[in-house]
Amino acid sequence: MTTVTASASGVRWTKKHLLGLEELSADEISLILDQAAEFKRLAAEGETKLAALKGTVVANLFFEPSTRTRTSFSLAAKRLSADTVDFTASTSSLSKGETFYDTAQNIEAMGVDQVVVRHSTSGAPHLLSKLLKASVLNAGDGTHEHPTQGLLDIFTIRERRQKIAGLTVALVGDILHSRVARSNIWGLKKLGARVIVCGPSTLIPEHVERLGVEVSNNLDEILGQCDCINLLRIQFERQRSAFFPSIREYAHFFGMNGDRIRRSKSDVLILAPGPINRGVEITPEVADGPHSVILDQVTNGLMIRMACLYLLHNRRNELGSSSAERGLTES
Ligand code: CP
Repeated sequence: MTTVTASASGVRWTKKHLLGLEELSADEISLILDQAAEFKRLAAEGETKLAALKGTVVANLFFEPSTRTRTSFSLAAKRLSADTVDFTASTSSLSKGETFYDTAQNIEAMGVDQVVVRHSTSGAPHLLSKLLKASVLNAGDGTHEHPTQGLLDIFTIRERRQKIAGLTVALVGDILHSRVARSNIWGLKKLGARVIVCGPSTLIPEHVERLGVEVSNNLDEILGQCDCINLLRIQFERQRSAFFPSIREYAHFFGMNGDRIRRSKSDVLILAPGPINRGVEITPEVADGPHSVILDQVTNGLMIRMACLYLLHNRRNELGSSSAERGLTES
């Protein structure tokens, strides 16, 4: 029989929805990370299929394109033995005028227990959480938050450094439009990291210091201080005006390349949420080089999404039942 350990802190998961890291405590974030680590340990032992969500349905409602998040949520649900429903906006009845809410309500009417939603409008998952009976997991809403991306980034750092507190993490690039930046900031600060946001001043939100971060407009000045550098994609699809003169100039001042790696700490970790713009925020030499943990992030994303689905499903009896009752036997 397979068992999953509870968090070392003994904290219980009580939330029905996962909407953002802003609303989670440090203990709740650590609980998700610990649960993901346990799923990763089990997978390494060959226990890749668990019965925890057997008899439940997870719906992926993606109103924006996705490769990593959508695929890994779908696989995570299958690894936990849930049935899955995949919804793609472009081929749906939205094109016939059906509303976002009617779409979600109709899919829920098929007996869905957990809804994973990505939407270009900030707050869309929060609206659904008020309207649906199902648990809602935010898979990225506009420029607001992308909590499971923040969690998998933090998990990857913790796995490599065995801690978060005391580390200096730079988030470089398009902070203004980045939901990944916001989730990273909330999560990293709650766990005690020093966070520097770095980019052209036009791509740094006003008053971002209020979130407890430092601001830099000069990547070369901060390179030597960073334990981890998370390179955020320039979100051309969200930019409604020119925020810098040219892509070439952006890459010159803020792109991570071999020369900048050589001027960084010898053990610096290079992260990127993906998709990456090779030659813009990161050169192929760095993306495919020894400091890069980009594909580790993708692997860990599966474990994080399993942990989130599992904890939300089990919120009522997380610590109050045996592992067999919680379905933690192989399917
Ligand atoms: N990082 C991320 O959210 O990737 P996708 O858009 O491919 O899901």
